[in-house]
Amino acid sequence: MSQTPDAPPHLDAGRVSTAPGLFVCFEGGDGAGKSTQVRLLAEFLDRDGRDVLVTRQPGGTTLGAQIRELVLHGDHVSPRAEALLFAADKAHHVDELIRPALSAGRVVITDRYTDSSIAYQGAGRELGGEEIRQLQHWAVGGLLPDLTVVLDVSPEVGRARRGDVQDRLESETDDFHHAVRRGFLDLAARDPDRYVVVDASLPPEEIRARVLARLEEVLEERR
Ligand code: TYD
Repeated sequence: MSQTPDAPPHLDAGRVSTAPGLFVCFEGGDGAGKSTQVRLLAEFLDRDGRDVLVTRQPGGTTLGAQIRELVLHGDHVSPRAEALLFAADKAHHVDELIRPALSAGRVVITDRYTDSSIAYQGAGRELGGEEIRQLQHWAVGGLLPDLTVVLDVSPEVGRARRGDVQDRLESETDDFHHAVRRGFLDLAARDPDRYVVVDASLPPEEIRARVLARLEEVLEERR
């Protein structure tokens, strides 16, 4: 059946398996509190006896750290170059770190992944969500998370939490960050089985409990 422009391919199309590992991703606007939740989940799974790899994008590898510096702290980068740099980081990251860890049966938790590019470059930079989804999908060879946690934060709250030191993306306008927020929520709405959206203004322990409850369901489905 052919796709109409209004009905983009399902996010699952061409997805590859993460087995025997488990792949969890945290997404959300700047200042959503992802790092805290990544740490809390990693500690919980670690205590549960799981072998956990925590990583972040951009970054996580030597090349990734260099790309991170260029794209977040360098001079102006044209939007398409920015999209390609984020895609290059992910391609390298998946090949070098994430896929080998999943193949070894580890749990991989990443602070940001493909959805960040769909939201920031696709929606925020207006390069087109579907084009960026295809670019990212190609870069990661169809490897998508078993569960994506979207920590939903308003641009105003995110800005207040971030404080004064801002990188290239963080210092964008509130309109940009509103578009990014909508980008994340649209992705979650399109694939509710693979997402959980949590209000980032809740207390960290409450967020953690909701994430764990949803992860339990995902694990149950895989049994
Ligand atoms: P993050 O690591 O959350 O920043 P911080 O170190 O302040 O916690 O994210 C870095 C920035 O990169 C963030 O503003 C979002 C942006 N980004 C994209 O625009 N596209 C992407 O594909 C990724 C992974 C991040």
